[in-house]
Amino acid sequence: MDLRLPTNQCRQDVADFSSEVKIMIKEIYLDNSATTKLDPSVMEEAARAAREAYGNPSSLHRKGREGERVLTASRKTLADLLGVREGEIIFTSGGTESNNLAILGIARRYRRRGNHLITTAIEHSSVLRPIQLLEEEGFEVSYLLPDSKGLIGAREVLEAIKPETILVSVMHINNEVGSRQPIAEISADLKGKKPDLLFHVDAVQSFGKVPLPPGLEGIDALSISAHKFHGPRGTGALFLREGVQVKPLLLGGGHERGLRSGTENTPGIAGMALAAKQSFEGMGQKAAELQEMKKRLLTSLKTKHPWIKINGPEIGEKKGAPHIVNISFPGLQGEVIVHALEEHGIYVSTGSACHSGDTGGSHVLQAMRLSPEEIAGAIRISLSRHTTPEEIENAIEIIHETISWLKQLHEKMGKA
Ligand SMILES: Cc1ncc(COP(=O)(O)O)c(C=O)c1O
Repeated sequence: MDLRLPTNQCRQDVADFSSEVKIMIKEIYLDNSATTKLDPSVMEEAARAAREAYGNPSSLHRKGREGERVLTASRKTLADLLGVREGEIIFTSGGTESNNLAILGIARRYRRRGNHLITTAIEHSSVLRPIQLLEEEGFEVSYLLPDSKGLIGAREVLEAIKPETILVSVMHINNEVGSRQPIAEISADLKGKKPDLLFHVDAVQSFGKVPLPPGLEGIDALSISAHKFHGPRGTGALFLREGVQVKPLLLGGGHERGLRSGTENTPGIAGMALAAKQSFEGMGQKAAELQEMKKRLLTSLKTKHPWIKINGPEIGEKKGAPHIVNISFPGLQGEVIVHALEEHGIYVSTGSACHSGDTGGSHVLQAMRLSPEEIAGAIRISLSRHTTPEEIENAIEIIHETISWLKQLHEKMGKA
């Protein structure tokens, strides 16, 4: 049974469906892995910094010192939350820049030690693209494949180490399927096998959602991005362990210890610090609540539609993120489902980001060896600490109605 729709026909049918279905709900935003809504108190904090501490933090006068104080306080907040030193936090423009700086900066700086890098096939493009650039510059790269649930084994990482390996980069939580990699285990093993190896972690999807190793033990560099935890967009940070050096990417006035030139985004940084603090408050309780909502969502949909496939770790498994769900509806098109749900105020995303040049859909789902049909029919539903159980109940109902309708429609079309 082929449930795919031709695109034009699809848009018309989705529009017809919207007027047919009577359930009307207010917006339910379930695309929090793409970005989160700015928290009003964070917006106010950023506005306050812009209003009151507008001086350039590098200026010598009082206004400059006010800006500098905002940076110092924000740096301390992030360092305290991570259990690291203030001097180990570098402010950046977000996850992409943090990942680029860590990977390009470390590899180019330590090139004389060796030219081998290890990463995984399921990293975000802001890790994979710089690594591809390094390959063009002559580095050799081992790309580790996940198992069918999107998990990377610590043993596989260890086995990939060579005498010339200088850097290992493994993401904590995968942004598409929510698999949670054993970061603490990996770091312990790495340092045991090759003490001078440097370990970078892309924690963009995990910071403020699940705990990180205390004091980031065994981790040399770690990327975060404010807009993934209800902070402002265009603001992030890179933790860089004292003693670890990077070749900077941005050259100029020597801000951020010369590692990231450019006048600091004081309002964004102030907002990020508050958002970070808020996301760490009651994190365990929130994660348990999210896990419960995720379980409810998956078990209900699976009961109503046993033919669907859940991509990523099993429900309730510790190896799964509490806030990311990825489901394949084989035969349907993820894009069609996204638009049909949008008509009812539900915002989710396709499993595969449609970047230009993408062939065959999501590189993550491909690496997990899903069939082309399963990849084409995948959607990602991502929650945040603002998501409520009531929203999930409504979403279950609408998703169920939408999927049933799409299936019926295709069956009808198949017979016509
Ligand atoms: C795992 C991961 N790393 C990095 C990024 C890039 O972060 P930013 O959007 O702040 O550049 C994202 C964004 O989706 C992500 O999910």
